[in-house]
Amino acid sequence: MITLRNIDSPQRGVIILDKDHKISFANRRASEIFGVAIEQLIGSDLPGAVLHREMGDEDIVEEVLESWCDQGATFHRYSTPVFAADGVVSGRVEIYSDITARRMLEEEILERNTELAELNAALGEAQEQLVHSERLRTLGEMAAGVAHDINNVLGIILGNAQLAKRKLGEDSDVRRSIDAIELAARDGAETVHRLREIGKPVDSASYKAVDLNDIVNDVVRGAVPAWKESGLHDGVSVETNLAPGCRVLGNAAELREALANVLMNAAQAIEGKGNISISTSIGDGYALMTIKDTGLGMSEETLERLFDPFFTTRGAQGTGLGMSMVDAIVIRHGGKAMVDSEEGIGTEVTFCFPACDDVD
Ligand SMILES: Nc1ncnc2c1ncn2[C@@H]1O[C@H](COP(=O)(O)OP(=O)(O)O)[C@@H](O)[C@H]1O
Ligand SMILES: [Mg+2]
Repeated sequence: MITLRNIDSPQRGVIILDKDHKISFANRRASEIFGVAIEQLIGSDLPGAVLHREMGDEDIVEEVLESWCDQGATFHRYSTPVFAADGVVSGRVEIYSDITARRMLEEEILERNTELAELNAALGEAQEQLVHSERLRTLGEMAAGVAHDINNVLGIILGNAQLAKRKLGEDSDVRRSIDAIELAARDGAETVHRLREIGKPVDSASYKAVDLNDIVNDVVRGAVPAWKESGLHDGVSVETNLAPGCRVLGNAAELREALANVLMNAAQAIEGKGNISISTSIGDGYALMTIKDTGLGMSEETLERLFDPFFTTRGAQGTGLGMSMVDAIVIRHGGKAMVDSEEGIGTEVTFCFPACDDVD
């Protein structure tokens, strides 16, 4: 069924052109849209803004006239040739619909969609963080539960080892074996201690403003001479590049522990000669500390499992607790640890903390 409702609607501007493309009829809406009185429209060409496209007599034109006319409105234009009984083109019908509101709505929907996507991403990240912290918490609880028992066992081993040593002479093979037992028991105690550290609850009440630069200086001053003395990491040079005012709210001892772990890993990753650079920076409400080494770098699999407790590629020499402890400390400080690494090139670890502007 044909309905004339659309043609009559004042929402749409309707113009009829004769075979010479002159306007022969126009409705009131068309006059409003073009800003020209109907009497003036009749007999004239289509306003120039519309006729930007050469039309053949057979062309059906359908286009969007962006921000057209004074009000900055957007129109949809539909133009079709009309034919006389003998099949000859006798003119055109042009229909203009104001789609400004629809356009605005579409833009708004698009904007909302982008907002929604951003919110979704933030939610996903928060969820991941939550799962991560929850895992650490569970591990901590488990560690606290077994730590007591293991410490008792280790205490008995250590006590008896020391007793046995006292009864033996200096140079016996048995004594050396007992020394080894003692060392292993102490290492075990250390591992239990570290495990408990991972699950330690946040004690932010005791947090104070800490200068990250002091942390860097203290750790470097402590570690580097010890390396030199022990002959380990001889070819490793450490340089610092510190920006003033990198203050965070936290526990200095924990932050030193975190940096010392990363620094140790960096040194262990360097075979022969290499360089470690530690830098700090501040901006956008965040204080950053970056530790970059020219060591072996990590495979993708190592990088993925880096923060997992007990993950190590260093066999019996590693405990795999260093980076999980680093991660736990950084999270306790409301921060995030990010790692970028390339095999054969090196590794870059960045701690990102909320900056503290409290100058007490
Ligand atoms: N700077 C680094 N360069 C290369 N590999 C690294 C670096 N830091 C950590 N790793 C890798 O991550 C693993 C886990 O580190 P960590 O948790 O400190 O445990 P551990 O040092 O006891 O192995 C290491 O065994 C090593 O493979
Ligand atoms: Mg380590």
